[in-house]
Amino acid sequence: MRILLLILLPIFIFSNSVLGLVSDFQKEFYSPEKKIKVSFQFKNGKIQYAVFYKEKSVLENGELGIVTKEDNLSIFQDVKISERQFNNIWKPVWGQSSEIKEAYTELCLELTSVSNNRKLNVFLRAYDDGFAFRYEVPKQNRLNKINIISEESAFDFVGKYICWWNWADYNTLEKTYFNTPLDSAKHVATPFTLEGQNGVFVSVHESAILDYSTMTLLQDSTRKNLFKVNLVPWSDGILVKTKKTVCSPWRAFIFGDKPGDLIQSNLILNLNEPCKIKDVSWIQPILYSGIWWEMHLGISTWKEGLKHGATTENAKKYIDFASENGIKGILIEGWNTGWENWGEKDAFDFTTASSDFNLKEVVSYANSKGVEIIGHHETGGDTESYEKHVKKAFKMYHKLGIRIVKTGYAGPVTPIGENHHGQRMVQHYNRIMKLAAKYEIMLDVHEPIVLSGLSRTYPNLMTAEGVRGMEWNAWSEGNTPSHTCILPFTRGIAGPIDYTAGIFDIDLSNFANQRVKWNGLDIGKTAVHSTLSNQLALLVILYSPLQMAADLPENYKNHPAFKCIQQLPATWDETIVLDAKIGEYVIIARRYNLTWFIAAITNEIGRDLEITFPNLNQNIPYKSSYFLDGKDAHFEENPESYLIEEKINETTLKKTIKLAPGGGFVILLEPIN
Ligand code: NOJ
Ligand code: CA
Repeated sequence: MRILLLILLPIFIFSNSVLGLVSDFQKEFYSPEKKIKVSFQFKNGKIQYAVFYKEKSVLENGELGIVTKEDNLSIFQDVKISERQFNNIWKPVWGQSSEIKEAYTELCLELTSVSNNRKLNVFLRAYDDGFAFRYEVPKQNRLNKINIISEESAFDFVGKYICWWNWADYNTLEKTYFNTPLDSAKHVATPFTLEGQNGVFVSVHESAILDYSTMTLLQDSTRKNLFKVNLVPWSDGILVKTKKTVCSPWRAFIFGDKPGDLIQSNLILNLNEPCKIKDVSWIQPILYSGIWWEMHLGISTWKEGLKHGATTENAKKYIDFASENGIKGILIEGWNTGWENWGEKDAFDFTTASSDFNLKEVVSYANSKGVEIIGHHETGGDTESYEKHVKKAFKMYHKLGIRIVKTGYAGPVTPIGENHHGQRMVQHYNRIMKLAAKYEIMLDVHEPIVLSGLSRTYPNLMTAEGVRGMEWNAWSEGNTPSHTCILPFTRGIAGPIDYTAGIFDIDLSNFANQRVKWNGLDIGKTAVHSTLSNQLALLVILYSPLQMAADLPENYKNHPAFKCIQQLPATWDETIVLDAKIGEYVIIARRYNLTWFIAAITNEIGRDLEITFPNLNQNIPYKSSYFLDGKDAHFEENPESYLIEEKINETTLKKTIKLAPGGGFVILLEPIN
């Protein structure tokens, strides 16, 4: 395991060129290697910007400003400009690579509004892989309350695009994606990803959502390439409420020449503050399993009763399985009382175990076997209740030695009337993240607000759902193979995904006679729409530092393909996207120490994928294990057909591999000692 210490390498900061107060002007600035050019002008009191990627015009007529109930901060009488350069390499505690380069040029515009002489600072940054800007209303005289009623940020894409998007929804992120021309994208959630006719790929998202509401993008009714930031409101219609000062998230644009550049970009993380947790030695990425899929399948229940899943006995069975198979953690859902009241106010008790579950006994059994217990807090969305009890609950877990907690917000949030993605919930999630850090607890947040790279600052915020994940395959028409070929380029841009793949009993036949329908979306023909090798590949492709192998121990036991999962690291030193077409296929190579995993998935269409991989250390002999689709595999007709092949001493991989419809593969390359 990599030493999980945050070591900061030398930082170089050069501050320079203060232009001072200016009236109408035009100016350009560049990213450090000049891949991005930003030009902007101050004219008639308005700021407008345009952005170029490798000299191709991507954004124009960009507008800036915010309007509060008190002031109009979008028309200005003067501006003071300063510029600085920043260059740094930092090491994340966990992630897709062990070192991250952070280099940018930043312009600070200190603006004074026409109305009431108010101050507004706008920071614009050009990185070589993207552009971003944010607002800050600094403290100033006679300003004690800020109520934002409009964020004026708008951007106009230049040229023609197709895009991948889902409908903006103020309450859920568990959606399927559309792939349409830009014209049809009326109101979108972010990350919002586009492919230009000029060959430029763009992903739009926000970074560092601290005390603000989350953003959706609203298309202009006539100019279809023009999008305005639309913030999720409070129940009284105000968008953001603060006292004295406010700092918006960064409005961020990642650019690339190919889809893989979007995945390899660290822009969203880079726009966040460095780590604020001094000792990070307790933060450890792991592969986990747990009492979870059986409830979603309707084999057992969360609530206590004859079919209760979280019994002491069942927990011990999972712990035994984990300790015998190198799985580091076991999630236990349904361990506490209150599930019988799910949906009601104050339903859950976060500290009292059900009568058939002995928490202390289970934790000490897990300790004796070297397995972590992952605690669970389902709130049903009742944040008011959770806020009352969470401190005590974290204290209890900390005392018991439980270091990971999965939280959930499945249900309408309280206070009633507030939106799930509004500022009130942002405040809630960030408060819980900081409290968890205090009690040395790592978090896996389900039904979260969209991730925005905060795990750079608080690396105990490990992973989140916020995706139409595996559970939908257990009780609805399920997810298509295309869905998972879109996720790395959309939801994945925001941060780690707790998708929970790795299902081997794909047609769900093994326990069919024990299943009881519990969810209204279940139309009785449920299955996981992928091949078995696709399930293995998803564990490599959809990154999460808490990576769940979600199937039941019985389905893994003695299965030859399980050894692929057992070897899987939850953090990587290097990630290379070898090839991809958004929504069609993805091939990713990831390295941990000297071991490589190369994984690919495809959509509903089977295909031959060519792999050229010269990156192996030529001085070391390697063993290659191929986990492939069987010759007759098909995601609906024959999903469990797979093939394993082993080879010794391959030095350079250059081959064509066949993927079944809805299929995939993993190549595990291990040095031979
Ligand atoms: C929804 C979560 O996404 C899922 O993982 C969890 O099992 C249920 N809520 C119950 O908490
Ligand atoms: Ca969910």
